[in-house]
Amino acid sequence: MSKVRRSVITGTGAALPPRRVTNAELAEQVDTTDEWIVERTGIRARHIAADGETTATLATEAAKKALAAAGIEADQIGLIVLATATPDQTFPASATRVQTALGIDDCIAFDVAAVCTGFLYALSVADNMLKGGMADHALVIGSETFSRILDWEDRATCVLFGDGAGALVLSAQQTDGQGVLATRLHADGRHNDLLYVDGGVSTTGTVGKLRMKGKEVFRHAVTNLADVMGEVLGAAGHEPGDVDWVVPHQANKRILDATAKKLGLDPARVVVTVDQHANTSAASVPLALDTAVRDGRIARGDLLVLEAMGGGFTWGAAAVRY
Ligand code: UT7
Repeated sequence: MSKVRRSVITGTGAALPPRRVTNAELAEQVDTTDEWIVERTGIRARHIAADGETTATLATEAAKKALAAAGIEADQIGLIVLATATPDQTFPASATRVQTALGIDDCIAFDVAAVCTGFLYALSVADNMLKGGMADHALVIGSETFSRILDWEDRATCVLFGDGAGALVLSAQQTDGQGVLATRLHADGRHNDLLYVDGGVSTTGTVGKLRMKGKEVFRHAVTNLADVMGEVLGAAGHEPGDVDWVVPHQANKRILDATAKKLGLDPARVVVTVDQHANTSAASVPLALDTAVRDGRIARGDLLVLEAMGGGFTWGAAAVRY
C-alpha cells in the first residue's frame, strides 16, 4: 500500500473540574432519585465547574496533557479547533484564549459550534486542513461548561449534563493506514425545537437555558447514529465486525446499548464513561477516548469509530486507525 498524508492521533488529554456531584447530592436539591437517574440514563456522577473554571481553562488543561502525551511542544501547533456550545465570551473564540494560555504567538485558532456533535465536526475540519497542508500539528478540543446553561429547576434536563474537556493532538504523517480514515457529518435544522437553548445574542440578548424533548431526541439518536456509523465504516472500507472500539458521545447508556445492538456490535467494545461524567456535550468523545487510551483498552493499531449526535440536529462519525 502506498503511503498517503493522514492525520494521526499522537496524544490525548482530558480535564475535569475537581468538584464531583453524585446523584444522591443532586437529589437533595432537585425532585429526583439516584434510582431514576441510573435506571433511565446510566449516570452516577458529573463534574461541575467552580467560579473561575471556564471552557477555556478546562480546554487548556486538557490540551497541555495531550501535548505532553504526544511529545510535541506548544509552538509546533499550527491549528487549534475548539468545539464548544458554551464559550467563555460571545467573541473572540475560546480557541484564542487557549492559544494564549499555551504561549503560542501565532497559529490558526477558531471555535466550531455543533453542540454534542461539535467534536466530530472539529475533527473533520482539522483532518481536512492537515491533509490540505494548512498545518502539520493540530489541537482538536471539545470543552464545555454546560452547568452554566442548565435550568436547575428542570429535573428532566439538569440531571443529565456535566462539565469537562478532552483534547487530542493530530499530526500529519505519511502513513500506510494509520490515522483518520474517513469522517461523515450531517445536520437537519428542522429539529431545532427538540434540543435548543432559549436565548441568544441576536434574539433575546441573553444566554438562555437548555431545553430538550428527551424522548424524541432519544428516538432520532439511535437511528442517526447507527446510520452514520455504518456510512463512515463503508467509506473507510470496513464493516462493523472490524471495529475494535466504539468511542461514542456519552448522552445515555441506553442509547449506547441500543445503537450497538442495531449495528450488531458487541456492547463490550463500546467505551462507556457516561456513568462518571454524564453528558459533557462536545467534550464527551475526547474525554472517553482519553480515558480508554490511558487505561490501556485502546492500543495502537486498533480500529476506532467515534460518533456523536446533538442539537440541530447534527450528527457525525469518524473511522480512525489509532
Ligand atoms: O446529547 C444530546 C443528545 N441528548 C440525548 O441523547 C438525550 C436523549 N434522551 C434521553 O436520554 C431520555 O429521553 C431521558 C433520560 C432524557 C428521559 O428518559 P425517558 O425514559 O425518555 O423519560 P421521560 O422523559 O419519558 O420521563 C418519564 C417520567 C416522567 O414522568 P411521567 O410523566 O411518566 O409521570 C418524567 O416527569 O420520568 C419523569 N422524570 C423524572 N423523574 C425523576 C423526568 N426526569 C426525572 C428525574 N427524576 N430527573
